[in-house]
Amino acid sequence: MPTALILGATSDIAQAIARELAAKQYDLILAARNMNYIERIQKDIQIRYGVQVKPMYFDATSYEQHADFLKQTEVFPEVVVVCFGYLGEQKKAEANWDEAYQILATNYIGAVSILNLVAQEMEKRKQGIIIGISSVAGDRGRKSNYIYGSAKAGFTTYLSGLRNRLYTSGVHVLTVKPGYVTTRMTENMNLPKLLTTTPEKVAKSISKAIKKKKNTIYVKKIWWLVMIIIRCLPESIFKKLNL
Ligand SMILES: NC(=O)c1ccc[n+]([C@@H]2O[C@H](COP(=O)([O-])OP(=O)(O)OC[C@H]3O[C@@H](n4cnc5c(N)ncnc54)[C@H](OP(=O)(O)O)[C@@H]3O)[C@@H](O)[C@H]2O)c1
Repeated sequence: MPTALILGATSDIAQAIARELAAKQYDLILAARNMNYIERIQKDIQIRYGVQVKPMYFDATSYEQHADFLKQTEVFPEVVVVCFGYLGEQKKAEANWDEAYQILATNYIGAVSILNLVAQEMEKRKQGIIIGISSVAGDRGRKSNYIYGSAKAGFTTYLSGLRNRLYTSGVHVLTVKPGYVTTRMTENMNLPKLLTTTPEKVAKSISKAIKKKKNTIYVKKIWWLVMIIIRCLPESIFKKLNL
């Protein structure tokens, strides 16, 4: 059976992806910081789908431990999903370096640190799928979340370069831009229904995109149109908007 490694596996989106892949009979390595939570998820998935699930401790910002972490997976995974992320608070991050750093370190540096190692191994093996959960927030910076958005922009660009590099090795890289999703991350936000989806729909879209070898997906198609319009607005107009 193929194995999928899910990084940030306690995230609501990650849990839906884990169930989707388990239903397709993938064995799973679920990696996260909260071991009690991840062990509960492990038991639930094992019972429901009868696949092997290995829980592992993983902190995206403990860069120096990433090489050892990968060695300890024992089985090198065919699929790797980067699902961890930290939205943080924009206003706080403008004035407080620790908050700004945490946003950049989690969403960008942590992802680059672990995927650099994953990419080397997949390139050697000439197979593998890397899935990165990025964000439409990275498509254009706006005042309400440009520190998180700039980290996601960096991540999107990194994934694009990785896809280009690994193409000739037969390794596929999928960039996912979910739009608004009803998860712990957004529970205090008033999300517009038309632009909002569920973790289960994100997982289903990823499953289809893997099959079709898609490069980048917007989970709700309307986001593709919204972001084209937003990207086309001249800066002289965009800078005056309250976004
Ligand atoms: N929800 C949305 O609307 C939305 C939209 C676009 C993109 N995304 C992206 O989708 C991904 C999943 O988010 P979600 O919506 O499912 O939110 P979530 O449930 O809040 O999940 C975020 C996850 O990231 C983990 N995490 C944070 N810092 C970490 C670190 N240093 N090391 C390891 N894990 C860490 C958290 O683990 P702990 O429990 O240990 O804190 C948590 O499991 C994120 O990358 C997010 O940016 C979400």
